Amino acid sequence: MAQDSTASPSTAPLAGKVAVVTGSGQGLGLAYAQELARQGAAVVINDVDQEIADRAVAAIAAAGGQAVAVVAPVGSTETATALVQGAVEAFGRLDVLVTNAGVLRDKSLLKMTDEDFDLVIQVHLRGTFTCAREAYRYFKDNGVAGRIITIGSPTGQYGNFGQTNYAAAKAGIVGMVRTWALEMKKAGVTANAVIPVAATAMTETIPFFRSAVEADRRGEPMPEFFRKDLGFGNAADVAGLIAYLASDDAAGITGQAIGAGGDRLQVFSHPRPVVTEYRDGGWTFEALREQLPAILEGNLQPVGETLPPLPEELRPESATQQS
Ligand SMILES: NC(=O)c1ccc[n+]([C@@H]2O[C@H](COP(=O)([O-])OP(=O)(O)OC[C@H]3O[C@@H](n4cnc5c(N)ncnc54)[C@H](O)[C@@H]3O)[C@@H](O)[C@H]2O)c1
Repeated sequence: MAQDSTASPSTAPLAGKVAVVTGSGQGLGLAYAQELARQGAAVVINDVDQEIADRAVAAIAAAGGQAVAVVAPVGSTETATALVQGAVEAFGRLDVLVTNAGVLRDKSLLKMTDEDFDLVIQVHLRGTFTCAREAYRYFKDNGVAGRIITIGSPTGQYGNFGQTNYAAAKAGIVGMVRTWALEMKKAGVTANAVIPVAATAMTETIPFFRSAVEADRRGEPMPEFFRKDLGFGNAADVAGLIAYLASDDAAGITGQAIGAGGDRLQVFSHPRPVVTEYRDGGWTFEALREQLPAILEGNLQPVGETLPPLPEELRPESATQQS
């Protein structure tokens, strides 16, 4: 990501703020950490891999930012505590938590093992829960109007073939955000979910995105079809939204799920009834048999994300669907 130098550390929008970004050794997390640092925040890099965490710290320092690494797997309360402590020990406080760490174990339902399910839930859902709980405890105890920025996925919003574990975790994260927005309101702490789409290690092997990833690797802009119609760009394209939600400007934004990728930004609705009907005495089997087909007509909800077809010239032979 381009590292424009910030005008002056004390006038930067996030000057004086301290952020923890989980899973920030590479990919989207690294881009978030770099943008938070570029806007003036000091950053705690977290990852499971010491080498990539050290490289991320060095990249931020080289661009004039401040960062330290805490290498530990998110999921446990111990790691969550170590991350909050790491921020306080290195930089004296904590203002922003971004729960970005993630893994995939994609398989269709009958092939998915208990281990596949548990690992994805452990890192994404439990990792978000334990880190948010520790951060919120710190914010409340210290009177900090903190920011909790969680990471969802289109899969959590729409469902996706082969991602039972990931869909559960990502939909669960948005469910927690709605709950935390209510619980944290009085303390002035916000909780939001960002729904990213970007070329990273997680997505660049998907054939559907191949021509965009290859253009990016050649240093060329990704085709407009990807950046606009699919909302697919690179990690830096999502980072501005993370830094904005971390800023004082976003004090009034909480409980939201906001999508970002390429040139696209999307505010997601929360689930709400699309039709409401009443029947005196309640809905018996017989009443449903008689009336439900007509009620559902035109109101059955689609599942899965409907992507526009790839234009011929952007189609790799093997691209059939987004995984
Ligand atoms: N790339 C996309 O288009 C996309 C789309 C939707 C959601 N997401 C989400 O964005 C986040 C980042 O994804 P990415 O594409 O940058 O993936 P990535 O694989 O490039 O990066 C994930 C990072 O998390 C680290 N990690 C894994 N387990 C960890 C753990 N237990 N504790 C700490 N760190 C851990 C990995 O080492 C890696 O550095 C994930 O939550 C992912 O689900 C990505």
